[in-house]
Amino acid sequence: MSALTIVQVSDTHLSRKWAYFQDNWDAFLDCMHEERPDFIFVTGDMCFNGAKTPDDLAYTREQMARLPVPWRAIPGNHDIGDTPPDRRLKGPITAARRTRYRRQFGPDFWVEDLGGWRFIGLNAQLLESGLAAEKAQMAMLQDALASADDRSVALLIHKPLFLQNRDETGHALSRLWPRSRKRLLSLCEKYRVKLVASGHRHCYRSMRHGTTRLIWAPPTSFIDTRATGSGPRLTRRVGYIRYRFEGKRFSHEFVEPPRFINYDMRNWMAAHGSTTRLPPRPLPRGESERHQRLARQN
Ligand SMILES: [Fe+2]
Ligand SMILES: [Fe+2]
Repeated sequence: MSALTIVQVSDTHLSRKWAYFQDNWDAFLDCMHEERPDFIFVTGDMCFNGAKTPDDLAYTREQMARLPVPWRAIPGNHDIGDTPPDRRLKGPITAARRTRYRRQFGPDFWVEDLGGWRFIGLNAQLLESGLAAEKAQMAMLQDALASADDRSVALLIHKPLFLQNRDETGHALSRLWPRSRKRLLSLCEKYRVKLVASGHRHCYRSMRHGTTRLIWAPPTSFIDTRATGSGPRLTRRVGYIRYRFEGKRFSHEFVEPPRFINYDMRNWMAAHGSTTRLPPRPLPRGESERHQRLARQN
């Protein structure tokens, strides 16, 4: 079986009206046109604030249409709202927000078989949300794992399982909550999941948990260099991940394209706590129409 090159891109935070992070996305698209991977996974926070601004979802969907190869996305808290009660941004995941997301991007949890691998995408914000779809997602996951046969398995989920160790307590929005983490970790062990790929933390990290490799994809949008407390071997720079899947093995690299600029939002975050509170900064006139013309040329 031939090797697969797959790219993971995360936390693009795109918007027509708050177009702060468009430049690295445009540079990323140029990279994809050049390297043409077999597939692209987008691991959430595609939108600047899709939970509150429906046009961010529509605009980001238009931007994804500019990708020159097949892709699939899972939602982040900025796309669909965070796990209730969402104390930070006060826009929790609801059935209505989920519907709005799915109208643009399709299912928020799914299975994609590529080569000898099974990739399972999950909606992190749905876990412990109390929404009816939470059970359906868990049933899909159990099913997808049990029927993987001799395929190797990778999970994609916006939030990391934990920051430092599996015993972390509390309901912080920075990672999965203890009950969901325990459940996912026991499934990882039972089914020998080889990779859990996430985003959300706006930094790159690669670590091992048992036989599972945990990879945090860097953002394309911005970093916050005030943050310190998430452990060693962590790189706070923008970029993306390039994987190579060959047989039952895989390797990865953290890619930092020369045209990517490391936007450090530390001053704004210190003053206002979230990029969603930035004032509007619309795309230049005619730019989104130009993007649509480019997408049609794909
Ligand atoms: Fe993000
Ligand atoms: Fe996030």
